[in-house]
Amino acid sequence: MKYIGKNFVMEGVKIRNLVKKFETPLYCYSYKKLKKNINQFKINFKNLNPIICFAVKANSNIKLLKEIQKLGLGADVVSLGELMKALKAGVNPKKIVFSGVGKTSEELDFAIQKEILLINAESKSEILEIEKIAKKKKKIVNIGIRLNPNTDARTLKKISTGKKQDKFGVSEKYFLELVNYLKDSKFINLKCISVHIGSQILNHQPYEKMLKVVDRVIKKSKYKFEFIDLGGGMGISYGEKDKSLNYRKYSIAIRKIVKKYKTKIIFEPGRSIIGNTAILVSRIIYIKQGSSKNFVILDAAMNDLMRPALYGAKHKIIPENKNNILSKKTYEFVGPICESSDKFLTAKKFQKLKEKDLIIISDVGAYGMSLSSNYNVRLKPPEILIKGYKVNVIKKRQKFKDII
Ligand code: LLP
Repeated sequence: MKYIGKNFVMEGVKIRNLVKKFETPLYCYSYKKLKKNINQFKINFKNLNPIICFAVKANSNIKLLKEIQKLGLGADVVSLGELMKALKAGVNPKKIVFSGVGKTSEELDFAIQKEILLINAESKSEILEIEKIAKKKKKIVNIGIRLNPNTDARTLKKISTGKKQDKFGVSEKYFLELVNYLKDSKFINLKCISVHIGSQILNHQPYEKMLKVVDRVIKKSKYKFEFIDLGGGMGISYGEKDKSLNYRKYSIAIRKIVKKYKTKIIFEPGRSIIGNTAILVSRIIYIKQGSSKNFVILDAAMNDLMRPALYGAKHKIIPENKNNILSKKTYEFVGPICESSDKFLTAKKFQKLKEKDLIIISDVGAYGMSLSSNYNVRLKPPEILIKGYKVNVIKKRQKFKDII
């Protein structure tokens, strides 16, 4: 992704040409970046030879899941729908883990039927439900228990999951009780201790802290776990100020535990695989003069990309066509939705823009389309995958007849 001359180009394809055909707002993904990210992830943890299960919640486009599966990844799912999509994309059930605090009996039943790698249970009630279904089906079910390590991931408040006040996992004490309970279970085979402390983590220290707790709990349990599932959470750089996660240090810390307990590692990365592979292209509808700033009103809104409104997340915005003339006014990029939080970014220094110009919102591959909605009865945008100069429509733009 770069400029050739004045225009923004993705894998040799001019974005303005795509817009001529598909209009805006428009999600565009780069296959090359996806492949690169997956290879890099494998290299980062080469010494561990882990099972890598892509967190489908980050992006559940079935065509992308197919590509991800073909590049060797399994899937981490959190609902029946995600599980069905992963299977349809051809993911081997033996590479699927099922997470989540509230799996219904219907969801558990289906997962057990499909004999997936692991169900990561998050409460005693869930474990009892799994036992009940397994007994009925006369099956032995492989599970993990999710530990809440009470570790602060030091990330955005709303996406931290590993502190004791969060709803996820079970406490250390409870975990040990459950291990004891399961030692005698005829229908459940406890194979895994799982953790996940949050998302967009850029500092290795919370991970190290989490691993210390995992180490202590395994030791206390005196149980032989076949797997440790460390979840995902690896952060990406959304702007110049973000530093990058020190994978080497994280990997060294994991290696110590692996050696000690002779377990296999599972990861559930989402954002680090798909986050920087996509852009959202939008057209300026109007530019409205405000008293202190100009509102750049886009045809993309919070229903297309929810992260800024929901978490105060910042996605870099760049022009599709560079003109090198700096605007004197501050620009506030907003959508047309009737909410003040329908706002993407405030830019003090930006090139001079005019109505109908195209702009590009960066790094929207993770939790972009998957969090999109029909709020304000707006249609969901299409998704395009550029693979070796080939432009593939991997999701068509919704039509009013689909939703009305
Ligand atoms: N495993 C579990 C159990 C999770 O809960 C999550 C994310 C992941 C793996 C993948 O995490 P990742 O590698 O993508 O950080 N919507 C928010 C992020 C929510 C993350 C929820 N859980 C956002 O847009 O930032």
